Amino acid sequence: MAGAIPQHFIDELLARADIVDIIGRRVPLKKAGREFQACCPFHSEKTPSFTVSPSKQFYHCFGCGAHGSALGFLMEYDRLNFPEAVEELASSLGLDVPREAAFEQGPDHRPIYDMLEQAARQFEHQLRQHADAPRAVEYLRGRGVSGEIAGRFRLGYAPPGWDRLLTTLGTDENRIRRLADAGLITEQEDGKPYDRLRDRIIFPILDTRGRVVGFGGRLLGDGKPKYLNSPETPVFHKGRELYGLYEARQADAHPVRLLVVEGYMDVVALAQFGVSNAVATLGTATTADHLEKLYRATPEVVFCFDGDRAGREAAWKALQTALPLMRDGRQARFLFLPDGEDPDSLIRTIGADAFAEQVAAAKPLSTYLFDHLAGQVDTQSIDGRARLGELARPLLDRLPQGVFRDMMQQALYQRIGLNPPPAPAPQAARMPRRSAAPRPGGSIPPIRRAVALLVQHPEVADQALPSGWERLEANGIDLLRQMLDAVRASPGIRSGALVERWEDPETRRLLARLAILELGILDDAAEQFRGTLDRLTQEQRREECDALLSKSRDAPLTSEEKQRLTELLRAPGA
Ligand code: GTP
Ligand code: MN
Repeated sequence: MAGAIPQHFIDELLARADIVDIIGRRVPLKKAGREFQACCPFHSEKTPSFTVSPSKQFYHCFGCGAHGSALGFLMEYDRLNFPEAVEELASSLGLDVPREAAFEQGPDHRPIYDMLEQAARQFEHQLRQHADAPRAVEYLRGRGVSGEIAGRFRLGYAPPGWDRLLTTLGTDENRIRRLADAGLITEQEDGKPYDRLRDRIIFPILDTRGRVVGFGGRLLGDGKPKYLNSPETPVFHKGRELYGLYEARQADAHPVRLLVVEGYMDVVALAQFGVSNAVATLGTATTADHLEKLYRATPEVVFCFDGDRAGREAAWKALQTALPLMRDGRQARFLFLPDGEDPDSLIRTIGADAFAEQVAAAKPLSTYLFDHLAGQVDTQSIDGRARLGELARPLLDRLPQGVFRDMMQQALYQRIGLNPPPAPAPQAARMPRRSAAPRPGGSIPPIRRAVALLVQHPEVADQALPSGWERLEANGIDLLRQMLDAVRASPGIRSGALVERWEDPETRRLLARLAILELGILDDAAEQFRGTLDRLTQEQRREECDALLSKSRDAPLTSEEKQRLTELLRAPGA
């Protein structure tokens, strides 16, 4: 396991990278004054409200509120996690990512991955070479799988026999242990190991990086169990992996949608017909982990389920799992197949075009949710409609805050025939707009304004601040202090990187808003910043001074109070 990435490297990376260049390579940007604009890549819009600021090294969308640094953009747009985004940005600048030595290193799984890869190669090889291979090849041909598709999915064959892998790969004690760790061999009651997968077509399961993490194996004919999967191992968790996701992203790194189907063969058969954006869960229900993985790769997920009872139950379960994850910009739809068909059989019957039409006509989550609930009540009666409201409420409550949730609430009111409460003002209208603000940033409290100045012009932290400001007490002063510390510890840091320092999403959102707040064109940001703190400090001193003076009229002051009063009276401006 790699150690942590040192913060100084992240700062350096953000200082060297140019956000306009990074985003411009992915989204067509147009220059508008000092900034660049585009239609937002994170929500659909017709007029550009996505803004990239070269001076702040920060992007922000006035429509959906998306914001961040170059790293944040890569994470969102390229669907990378933080270390991956750092790698990506570093490699675009020709830098190597240094790693801190980790104190507590996780176990090293490389030997397991290595063993799984060797096994995958052997299975692939056996599909061509083994004496029994013709049966396997025949089976795949019979199911319409071409050599090209078999190659793309690295399909293989485990011939009959109890110790093929064991004898070829388990050449010593150590390697036998690794075969067991990789889930490739099992032990008999007497402790004697044997191959787990025998006389089966092999479907290697790859993780998002293309490493083999497990296998599914199908019998060549009828029998039980039809499929045998790798057990859970340190590198394989059924609830997280999706069969075909790596292959789908090889075909298209940013597919407009991904289809979730049930079977390995569905994924392979769809690819055979040119539908290369299908993935399958591994015989389990769709989990939140699955969905997070999917939404990292695409904005839209279409679930394909059998039209039978089990399929309908699975669909409803998937909907419930999806609800809390339906952030704005994500979509889910549901395709119900005719009873008795799976995607594999359906596409063979109706062809790729008709299948695509079915996918295009899949029910949006909202329609499916309301239709499903409406099926349980009598929507003609007032009681029934009230019941519909009761059933829908807890489901809608699971949606994250956002436009989608608001729309679902409205839709519910319409369905139950109630007048909706006045719609909240759209987010965009609540955002400070450059043209709409008469006195730019004038009405916000002074500390907020100081924070805004600091986040927009971190260099204002370089100057000496008014004496006595350390004692200042005010709302938001803690954040201001933390920010000053952060800027002073990383001279030259720019807005984007500064905002990213805060892990707490609430604070990041606040800072992001302040980062784009129109403060007017400032040549004197440093002066304003100092001036604000100066004024506040003096105000506070005056108040303290007045309080001590008035107290002294009623009762003698303590010696500390006297000393403080002397200090205050001596200070300038008091
Ligand atoms: P074919 O019959 O080859 O078309 O398989 P399929 O891919 O259409 O599979 P099916 O719809 O029967 O099952 C869907 C998925 O459930 C499979 O891809 C497996 O992941 C899983 N599955 C099916 N049968 C078994 C089984 O007997 N054991 C296990 N562990 N999983 C199974
Ligand atoms: Mn099938």
